[in-house]
Amino acid sequence: MKIAFVNGPNLNLVGRREPEIYGRQNLESFLDQLASEFKEVQFERFQSNVEGELVRYIQEAEAGAIVLNAGAYTHTSIALGDAVAAVTIPIIEVHISNVYKREVFRQHSYIAPHVAGTITGFGLAGYRLAVLMAMAL
Ligand code: DQA
Repeated sequence: MKIAFVNGPNLNLVGRREPEIYGRQNLESFLDQLASEFKEVQFERFQSNVEGELVRYIQEAEAGAIVLNAGAYTHTSIALGDAVAAVTIPIIEVHISNVYKREVFRQHSYIAPHVAGTITGFGLAGYRLAVLMAMAL
């Protein structure tokens, strides 16, 4: 099975960015670790700080499932919400932090109405939970 991991703006800085919120481990190294745990899964990764590139990637993705952390675009991007609604591949929304414990503007997601489910607040381990759910879907 192939899973596409799609990470949006500033997620390339995880490990260095606000470590009290996002932890000290780099996302790429965590995904390397996950890939070695789930040898039966083919991992494809895409990170971009550019909204349109994320839209294009989602439109063109060829995978059994997409694990999507759209970062701040989650709360602002109708275009990303529309892209998620447009594709038939199951999408699992992940947030490292618990967005519901944070600022009010983080409590709305344009992505959430169109995904199979959302995992939020379990740190990088949320990506592992998403793999398990992607395999189960
Ligand atoms: C985030 C939460 C968003 O509100 C924030 O803008 C991010 C990361 C998370 O993984 O917790 O960039 O998606």
